Amino acid sequence: MIALLENPLRVGLQQDRVPEPQILIIFGASGDLTQRKLVPALYEMKLDRRLPPELTIVGVARREWSHDFFREHLREGVESFGGGLQSEEIWQDFAQGLFYHSANIDVPEDYQNLKTFLAELDELRGTRGNRVFYLSVAPRFFGEATQQLGAAGMLADPDRQRLVIEKPFGRDLGSAQHLNRIVQAVCSEKQVYRIDHYLGKETVQNLLVFRFANAIFEPLWNRQFVDHVQITVAETVGLEGRAGYYETSGALRDMVQNHLMQLFSLTAMEPPNSLDADAIRNEKVKVLQATHLCNPNDLSTCAVRGQYTRGWMNGKAVPSYRDEEGAAPDTTTPTYAALKLTVDNWRWKGVPFYLRTGKRMPKKVTEIAIQFKEVPLLMFPSAAKQANPNVLVMRIQPNEGIAMRFEVKTPGSSLRTRSVEMDFRYDAAFGQASSEAYSRLLIDCMLGDQSLFTRDDEVEASWRVLTPVLEAWDGPSDPAAIPFYEAGTWEPVEAELLLNRDGRRWRRL
Ligand code: BG6
Repeated sequence: MIALLENPLRVGLQQDRVPEPQILIIFGASGDLTQRKLVPALYEMKLDRRLPPELTIVGVARREWSHDFFREHLREGVESFGGGLQSEEIWQDFAQGLFYHSANIDVPEDYQNLKTFLAELDELRGTRGNRVFYLSVAPRFFGEATQQLGAAGMLADPDRQRLVIEKPFGRDLGSAQHLNRIVQAVCSEKQVYRIDHYLGKETVQNLLVFRFANAIFEPLWNRQFVDHVQITVAETVGLEGRAGYYETSGALRDMVQNHLMQLFSLTAMEPPNSLDADAIRNEKVKVLQATHLCNPNDLSTCAVRGQYTRGWMNGKAVPSYRDEEGAAPDTTTPTYAALKLTVDNWRWKGVPFYLRTGKRMPKKVTEIAIQFKEVPLLMFPSAAKQANPNVLVMRIQPNEGIAMRFEVKTPGSSLRTRSVEMDFRYDAAFGQASSEAYSRLLIDCMLGDQSLFTRDDEVEASWRVLTPVLEAWDGPSDPAAIPFYEAGTWEPVEAELLLNRDGRRWRRL
């Protein structure tokens, strides 16, 4: 039954079309993202025959690398972080389309040289002037690179030239608006692909299918039946050598503004009129515009941060955040954040959405839990003490799937009840691993489908929700006052209180 269903989103996103011949130019190509994620994802698509044979990839960075060195570096990436080469012949064919070009982000002549090089590649590879410029550089260079590309005339053709910008897009509402203005000065919105890799995850896209391709859930998806919603993105990893970036970012900018707000808006949005990119994004913007911190005048009741201290992960001692290489000894950068949001619209008025994310948590788990209201009358006395309201859990990762908790009668002569779970698992139903999130996003961008990318007003609406917290947390903080949690444990006690005050608890995962 499940296997026979056709996923309309997949159809809408034209997954099976092969993009036009083009050049993908990755700025910041000597960094981790290119070696670990982007090129393994592209190679996966090459193996699946979803790339045009002419596809050409140009890595741009400051270091002086040769084409061959770059190819070897990427080969190692595919072998270590991707699914392996699988076929030497296919790799050789793919590697012929890999080139490296050294350039400085702030030097106009370097863009002119790059432009000439790309024109030569058009001749050599038959890529017909089609370009995707992918900014995988430190966020502070997004504006500069965009302006330089514009000044060099490399974004002038709205039909052939696209711009992909990694996250975080800005560091608050003001800087996101500023960056949007820079981008809009050199190209049109239809050329811009603000990337959030969570939208490339199969299970995140399935949220729309689950909600709008089934008749039985949508009638319950509102204030009449839902008590509250918990969205959790827990990670076991710590800083992973990224202090330079993370110290200026923290959990709110690194995870909440983008990944968690995407999960939130897909869960809370109204049904779009169609699967057209703008129809979906209009609904996401609308719900974000209706969303607020539950009480911006008293942040302690709706936003909690935390930072991990040293502890144990899988039997190994791990350092505190402050002892990680590159972190300041008295830093107040949060590695944990929890928020209570409310949505002022007819569907959700009065239903809190609790969001939490943290590093060095006991388990890697991303899920959305819809907690339904209790039954109006408890008729089964033996169940009164242990009655568990129904919960619908969408497991984004790992163990991708959907679980529903409900009460049943336990076997025997007495009328006892117990909670059980009905569990759908992607791997059991489909027997195949989902593809890398970046594969989906890269191919959509090459096809010109913006459905899974964030629009200018959407990114601003999301920053606006967080503004009061950003202002409070960015201000001077007493280094001793930030709530702490031990690495390898769940949230700080202050975050427990966020729910306990409402007579609720975080789910133990
Ligand atoms: C990235 C963040 O966007 O997402 C990282 O910068 C985080 O800090 C990562 O670890 C989590 O992604 P995933 O796909 O492993 O959940």
